[in-house]
Amino acid sequence: MLEIVILAAGKGTRMKSALPKVLHTIAGKPMLAHVLEKARQIKADNIHLVIGHGRELIEQNYAGADVNFCYQEQQLGTGHAVQQALPNLDDNSTVLILYGDVPLTSVQTLTSLLDSVDEKSLSLLTVDLKDPTGYGRIIRDSDGNVLEIIEQKDASQEQLTITEGNTGVMALNSNDLKRWLPALSSDNAQGEFYLTDIIAMARKESFTINTAAASSEYEVLGVNDRSQQAQLERYYQQQKAAQLMAEGVTLLDPARFDCRGNIEVGRDVVIDVNCIFEGDVYLGDNVQIGPNCTVINSRIDSNSVIKANTMLESATIGEACELGPFARARPGTNLSKGAKLGNFVETKKANIGEGSKVNHLSYIGDADIGTQVNVGAGTITCNYDGVNKSKTTIGDGAFIGSNSSLVAPVTVGIDATVGAGSTITGEVPDRQLSVARAKQRNIGSWKRPEKK
Ligand code: UD1
Ligand code: CA
Repeated sequence: MLEIVILAAGKGTRMKSALPKVLHTIAGKPMLAHVLEKARQIKADNIHLVIGHGRELIEQNYAGADVNFCYQEQQLGTGHAVQQALPNLDDNSTVLILYGDVPLTSVQTLTSLLDSVDEKSLSLLTVDLKDPTGYGRIIRDSDGNVLEIIEQKDASQEQLTITEGNTGVMALNSNDLKRWLPALSSDNAQGEFYLTDIIAMARKESFTINTAAASSEYEVLGVNDRSQQAQLERYYQQQKAAQLMAEGVTLLDPARFDCRGNIEVGRDVVIDVNCIFEGDVYLGDNVQIGPNCTVINSRIDSNSVIKANTMLESATIGEACELGPFARARPGTNLSKGAKLGNFVETKKANIGEGSKVNHLSYIGDADIGTQVNVGAGTITCNYDGVNKSKTTIGDGAFIGSNSSLVAPVTVGIDATVGAGSTITGEVPDRQLSVARAKQRNIGSWKRPEKK
């Protein structure tokens, strides 16, 4: 049985925020969500979340989730926090203690920690730090056995020179925890019940303290302020970029790449600088994404090219399409093979058929466009009367002249033509030309006013 206790009752004063600290995000996702994701990945049987400050918001956010809330009314220390979860822990189970504000510990590191717990040993995750200020120090004897953890504020000058720090992450048996926690005292520099004091108790019972070292400092870095949050964000993004490059993606600059979700890629994908990917994104073989694009929950099939400054959200783009520069495909946009959306074209709930083109300055909403249609510059589907949304249907092979307004609901037939500048309010039959604009008048006697 694996029980995970996540400590998240602290205030997070240095974030200077109305939002509880663990709800602040890394890669678009609350830190707590990262920790919960890890807990699930290592197959926790139960997850206990110790909350205090901002508990209502946290409870709201995770209502119905697989977490058991434990309430710590006063923050009397990490030992006291874990104590709040004690009544819920099954006897003789393995307990892993995590912090809600340490979001990026790898599954691998956590599993290695769990592997070394047994009846007479517990495991600590430690980290070697250039500057260990603020961390509890790991005190070892001359043979290297861990004896105890001394908090920064309780440490002697000599102990302060130790660079091995306590990450706070530990794994042990619930029976031991139930024996040791009630015996903690708050007789220390901070007047708190330190979880770390159980190490000395374990030693008194001749336990072995196993340690695992984190592979990177960032894996165990807790977020206390916005600057640390930004550092972890960059670390996360570098990891993500490295992972994509390992999968064969060309990133023109991995330092200017942001993924706030999941990207799945085919072969030979190229991503230019300053692109943001959110939610679930799929990029097929040879897809090229130009600079400054935002792609949210979208699928882009093979050989499609997304040019600079284009935004896609909940869109599906078929093979060999071309979008942008400066195109905006809003939710419900579906492009079939070889379709094109050019500059300053906005689409929403629009199906654009194979080979059809909307190349310049258009708004296409609530529309079904057939194959090989040409939509001229400045064409607008007037889909909204202030109350209702109505549909525009355009048949295969139709040609819509520039600067036309299609007042929905309206249908333009197969191979029909709309003259430039038309305001179309009724059906345009198949193969016919419809011109709906004022006739041109030429006035020969006209004189331009002249400046005196
Ligand atoms: C703790 C460790 C220290 C370690 C450091 C790593 C103790 C006594 N010290 O110190 O050895 O090097 O983390 O970052 O364990 N929390 C509660 N309730 C409380 C107190 C804390 O839920 O009453 C939670 C906080 O929200 C936070 C975590 O526990 O997520 C750590 O608390 P914090 O006060 O930051 O501990 P440190 O003093 O940094
Ligand atoms: Ca801390």
